Amino acid sequence: MLKIAVIEGDGTGPEVVAEGLKVLEAAAKKHRFQFSTQKFDLGGARYLKTGEVLPPGTVEELRKFDAILLGAIGHPDVAPGILEKGVLLELRFQLDQYINLRPVKLYEGVDCPLKDKGPADIDFVIIRENTEDLYVGSGGFAHKGTRMEVATQIMLATYEGVERCVRYAFELTRKRGRRKLLTLVAKTNVLTFAHDLWWRVFQQVAREFPDVKTDYNHVDACCMWMVKNPEFYDVIVTPNMFGDIITDLGAMIQGGMGIAAGGNIHPRGVSMYEPIGGSAPKYTGQNVINPLAAIGALAMLLRHSAAQEKAADDVEAAIQKVVRRMKSLSAGKMGYSTSEVGTMVAESL
Ligand code: IPM
Ligand code: MN
Repeated sequence: MLKIAVIEGDGTGPEVVAEGLKVLEAAAKKHRFQFSTQKFDLGGARYLKTGEVLPPGTVEELRKFDAILLGAIGHPDVAPGILEKGVLLELRFQLDQYINLRPVKLYEGVDCPLKDKGPADIDFVIIRENTEDLYVGSGGFAHKGTRMEVATQIMLATYEGVERCVRYAFELTRKRGRRKLLTLVAKTNVLTFAHDLWWRVFQQVAREFPDVKTDYNHVDACCMWMVKNPEFYDVIVTPNMFGDIITDLGAMIQGGMGIAAGGNIHPRGVSMYEPIGGSAPKYTGQNVINPLAAIGALAMLLRHSAAQEKAADDVEAAIQKVVRRMKSLSAGKMGYSTSEVGTMVAESL
């Protein structure tokens, strides 16, 4: 029995998660597997009510599940950082989800903002390290609020942390079996300590994967190539902060936040899958947000945490079918409501 913890979260989170679960129901029926879900009330609403972000014991509870499906975390009435750090990053760190896997795939029939690029050109995967770098929250202030103020924020890289991420990337590139090309994206010409470590580890692990071709891009050049020649890429591996930035760019070239999904993965632990777009407060409760990113996240869950590769393939094929019928992937312009899109995906399974 597949046990899924569900964090609907804030804003449009509950609406898109509901569609993900609708599709899960259909996939389970078709592929004859059983699942159970349990909701966890986390996010802005709870924080505003009780002052709690991640109540004690929550992580221990979550460890009992096979995977987590997350809607969105972020609330307009809560100061920046509280929920992001207190819930999302805390879960990534405590569950040691050291891979953030973000596919960039342009489906047939989706408008691409890049001139003359189509589905054959945009089909790669970004592996973002997910537990280190500027995200560790190490640093601080001195003389805060005065003209002598000093603020530091440390970019942390550890051998273990880099090695396990790079190794995962090589393994995935091999398994994906497309062009077998892994590109390291960093900034070795400026970040001559942290990214020197990345560079050395990348070279070292590469020796164990002679069948995988390697390449290197500085992150600024990568932004340029992603727009100019996205077909260059097969798999990208990159530190946390750069990964955060280039995956938003990736989301846009695949048709926007409405379809971009990601997985926070510990390959042998409890992983968490989410639409990467956020809580979209202005669309909350209107039944207009695109649920395909959440449904794509569910497909990733089935593939990476449930050993249901066939079901995952089916859900992705169903997304492809439904996408062709939609006017746009943007909220309010789809030609269908949130729940209609979910139902269409479930039915085409
Ligand atoms: C993401 C988000 C988060 C991040 C924020 C909400 C903390 O932008 O998942 O990409 O920076 O990782
Ligand atoms: Mn982001």
